[in-house]
Amino acid sequence: MCKLAEQYGEVFTFHMGSTKYVVLTGYDAVKEALVTQADDFGERNLTRVMKNNLKGKGIVFGVGESWKTMRRFTLSTLRDFGMGRSTIADRIEDEVQKVMEIFMQHQGRPFDPIINISSAVSNIICILVFGHRFEYDDPQFLRLLKLTTENVRLVTSPMVQLYNIFPIPAFLVNDLQKFKQNGMESRSYFRKVYQQCKAEHDGSDARSFIDSFVTRQQEEEGKNPKTYFDEENMVFSATNLFIAGTESTTTTIRWGLLLLMKYPHIQEKVQAEIESVIGRERPPRVDDRKNLPYTDAVLHEIQRFGNVIPNNILHETKEDTTFRGYHIPKGTPVIPLLGSVLFDKTQWQTPHQFNPGHFLDEDGRFIKRDAFMPFSAGRRVCIGENLAKMELFLFFTTLLQRFTLRPPPGVQPQDLDLSATPGFSYAPVPYELCAVKY
Ligand code: HEM
Repeated sequence: MCKLAEQYGEVFTFHMGSTKYVVLTGYDAVKEALVTQADDFGERNLTRVMKNNLKGKGIVFGVGESWKTMRRFTLSTLRDFGMGRSTIADRIEDEVQKVMEIFMQHQGRPFDPIINISSAVSNIICILVFGHRFEYDDPQFLRLLKLTTENVRLVTSPMVQLYNIFPIPAFLVNDLQKFKQNGMESRSYFRKVYQQCKAEHDGSDARSFIDSFVTRQQEEEGKNPKTYFDEENMVFSATNLFIAGTESTTTTIRWGLLLLMKYPHIQEKVQAEIESVIGRERPPRVDDRKNLPYTDAVLHEIQRFGNVIPNNILHETKEDTTFRGYHIPKGTPVIPLLGSVLFDKTQWQTPHQFNPGHFLDEDGRFIKRDAFMPFSAGRRVCIGENLAKMELFLFFTTLLQRFTLRPPPGVQPQDLDLSATPGFSYAPVPYELCAVKY
């Protein structure tokens, strides 16, 4: 799509089957659509598989008034439980300590850290959604994580993409059957927790997203016949949070670990900064960030370069819309291409190089960049942005205070593979690392 933009300009159309898609590329076009014309471009487009399975409910694939209500409720509830504030920072620190212990047990030998990272990251969202964490070897937890990983891959499998475009009967698409089965299995767990919570609900203080949902549902029962606080919205919103809260942050951390191994001189500079500002004894805290400009710049560059959701999630026009002189009818799928913003050569000095200097001024101070848009922008901007940033900061600073990351013996940093696996998110191919005591 970026190549097509070079030929056809920042805004262009292409067809898949009988559907016409509008692609927006580069910082200017994406910002103009998502921010300046936020209302026009704020609706979610549902592919055939999403329409049939999620029915416009929940948050990520929610539409219309139902989405608005769920998004507002989720944001305020998660804030009440400390999302983006110190309450949750303590929980993140606990989780990071657990990961450190596991890294320590490997005693500098090579291992793939993916399952430890996704368990730690997922536990943060579980604390908010369920009100508790899971042990890393809990079979139910491991099963939920497996179903999530599989479905994120299946939803963009070539056969499912074809099913989205052409009227192929569902029973012919094995990946779709598996996607549905997995979805039903994970939702049945969320449903069970919800029903248990409802049965035990006594109106006392809510301890989780699910608790608060039940309270609100009971408040609206009988009073508001059109309420959106129903079982389906509860189950889809909770599963959305579990998946969205686990997948992209885990993938970003995996890019970060790989990039730090690949560029050891950058890793050393981060470690030196942490050592001089925090020292080696006291664990890092969120408010150390302002005193760690180089580290902050590296974390932003990991997100820019990692580009974990390059195609964004499909938007659509809410009404007939005019954009840069083009008429775009209501309901047209729109792809605000985040990757084209994160690699826009008018915005970044060396877009295809991993260069923390993109976020530093001449005096080494951290600078915010408008084209830093991994969380998208506008009405649909990621609701977990602050939480994810907190997780990334505490994870990397705590890790690098204790360990140096190295490739397995015999592998040179420059030989590390930065290619990605296909799927909904852009993730590095599996790799092993050695965490050597610093
Ligand atoms: C580094 C980590 C993350 C990245 C890069 C990321 C990125 C994104 C992007 C690109 C979108 C689509 C925005 C759009 O449609 O324009 C999104 C949506 C969303 N994200 Fe995240 N996200 C991250 C972490 C999280 C976390 C930790 C949570 C959990 C609270 C979360 C919850 C959501 C939800 C619920 C939506 C749907 C918003 C809506 O449709 O209204 N994300 N995220």
